[in-house]
Amino acid sequence: MAPRKPTAAAAKHLAAVADGGPKARQRAVWGLGDYHKFATESIWGFGPELVAACGISAGQRVLDVAAGSGNVAIRAAEAGAQVVASDLTPANFEAGRREARARGVELEWVEADAEALPFGDGEFDVVTSAVGAIFARRHQVVADELLRVCRPGGTIGMIAIVPSGLVVDLFKLMERSVRAALDAPMSALLWGHEDHVRELFGDRVQSLELSRKGFVLDRFGDPAEFRDYFKANHPLGVALYRDLADDPAGVAALDREFLAAVTRGMRGSVEGPRDHDAEALLIVARKRGQDPSCPS
Ligand SMILES: C[S@@+](CC[C@H](N)C(=O)[O-])C[C@H]1O[C@@H](n2cnc3c(N)ncnc32)[C@H](O)[C@@H]1O
Repeated sequence: MAPRKPTAAAAKHLAAVADGGPKARQRAVWGLGDYHKFATESIWGFGPELVAACGISAGQRVLDVAAGSGNVAIRAAEAGAQVVASDLTPANFEAGRREARARGVELEWVEADAEALPFGDGEFDVVTSAVGAIFARRHQVVADELLRVCRPGGTIGMIAIVPSGLVVDLFKLMERSVRAALDAPMSALLWGHEDHVRELFGDRVQSLELSRKGFVLDRFGDPAEFRDYFKANHPLGVALYRDLADDPAGVAALDREFLAAVTRGMRGSVEGPRDHDAEALLIVARKRGQDPSCPS
């Protein structure tokens, strides 16, 4: 694939990263732990689900925003699309490249902020983001960018997290401990409210389908295993404990608090049941405007 020409948005992004401000801190946090391990062992089902919901097919130009290690992007490439995987955090691209190679697909990986995408207006048939763009702080700017780079009549597909139960407790813990690094993690959960999403896209979409789907993280034998796995692998889990490296009492207190939250999330029993239910909001929007592939 030919390298992309540098754009003003790309230059602005690199400057924001270089100045060590919030974007640089967010980028550093999402590169901690082993995101690819976590993704493949937990939310790897989101990729094919979003690809199917958006009807991604061979020959389409697809942009996956906040792609991580390629959960959606790689699956879109497997469906035959020409795919760009973009993310604020290039640290996870190498794992994505390996995964793509192992599956025999090729895609382009571009470092990019969801709030300033370095792509042209209407460049993509489908724009996706699974539990990714929701983490950028300015929701309206993100929605505007997703719409801008999608062609008229094209599709925008997202997966957000519905704020309930364990999810809210975990985000509260992060809000307190990694606030400076993540800017405002709790606000990511606003994307799980249907009214918020309707307002963000407004009348620039001709249709907006919103559906809730349960998902289960069922690989953990008990709440302590869940906590220890999250703490060892998930970027935000690693970030939670990072500042407490020289504070064993602080680690023990956080361990207890984390365990209490997970235990509540597993419906109140330390011994089980072993799974924890959460809900995702599947968002599929069609951008208003003439679809150039349809005769008028
Ligand atoms: C939970 S991961 C989801 C990754 C992937 N979509 C998946 O389904 O596995 C969140 C991702 O959002 C990215 N992210 C956070 N803020 C971002 C921003 N402002 N612009 C682009 N990506 C961002 C992180 O770097 C991280 O890769």
